[in-house]
Amino acid sequence: MNRRKKVTVVGAGNVGATLAHRLVDKELADVVLVDIIEDMPQGKALDLAESAPIEGYDCRLVGANGYKETADSDIVVITSGIARKPGMSRDDLINTNKGIVKQVTEEVVKYSPNCIIIIVSNPLDAMCHVAYKVSGFPKHRVIGMAGVLDSARMSCFLAEALDVSVENINSFVLGGHGDTMVPLARYSTCAGIPIPELLPKETIDKIIDRTRNGGAEIVKLLKTGSAYYAPSAATVEMVESILKDKKKILPCATLLEGEYGISGLFIGVPVKLGANGIEKIVEINLTVEERTALQKSAAAVQELVDIIGM
Ligand code: NAI
Ligand code: 2OP
Repeated sequence: MNRRKKVTVVGAGNVGATLAHRLVDKELADVVLVDIIEDMPQGKALDLAESAPIEGYDCRLVGANGYKETADSDIVVITSGIARKPGMSRDDLINTNKGIVKQVTEEVVKYSPNCIIIIVSNPLDAMCHVAYKVSGFPKHRVIGMAGVLDSARMSCFLAEALDVSVENINSFVLGGHGDTMVPLARYSTCAGIPIPELLPKETIDKIIDRTRNGGAEIVKLLKTGSAYYAPSAATVEMVESILKDKKKILPCATLLEGEYGISGLFIGVPVKLGANGIEKIVEINLTVEERTALQKSAAAVQELVDIIGM
């Protein structure tokens, strides 16, 4: 008998609740929302369940403050933690979120030993490291969400500059989820045409800069927290590729073991996402300049991993 797919979302705040909303809207899975705030995940799950007759999705929604309800999840998305406020970098979150991600991962593993973990909590690449070490899972079952979001931001800005459909644009961003990320115009296209053939260098440079600071731009506007519509949409694309075994090539944080000349760090690179999680790491040729930029990004991630000391 076919079992229904089950996705647990830990952290029912802005990203987590919006993610749950998007998952059931697409009827991808039953969803369990977990948070430490008493009654809040139950309230949000009930509110979403009561939308189902209008929207027409047949997904079960459960809210919980513990993990019993999460048992045998196919995917667990960890969004719990504190988010950035104006003036804070992603890295300022490190010690608080390390403790939260560690505690959450321990619970997740007890109840869903075979799940695939998608990390959203920041600083992203370092939090993947925490979940990987604590879970003891093989590397293909611990995946970080950032590259899909960063590429979507770049695509949004490119479509605007070219005055074309966002559907024509494919953007390519490598590296850690921080100011040192590496947006690559050379591998970004509009209807298959490389971007450098369509836009002047100054425009591309401005877009690259805006992409690198995309998270901070939203924090500055929102004032009380960080982005959640695009981050939740990015996570859904990853969840869908795994649950439907679509085998999409998406930029995700994965543990590199020599690929791109980097070892022992979670870094964003193109991967194939299917039913087994990360099924392949795709290596592409980089120029000396691009490789140097990626090394710089890896060094920034290494600094954070050194702080967490795992
Ligand atoms: P939020 O503050 O709205 O939600 C976080 C939720 O986590 C809160 O409801 C809080 O009660 C809960 N929480 C805290 N400790 C917990 C624990 N031990 N167990 C269960 N739940 C717990 O924050 P938001 O905006 O949803 O962001 C969540 C995280 O995702 C932040 O670290 C943020 O920086 C990160 N983020 C990462 C992105 C990426 O591209 N990787 C994009 C957007 C956000
Ligand atoms: C973002 O890029 C805060 O990492 C989060 O919006």
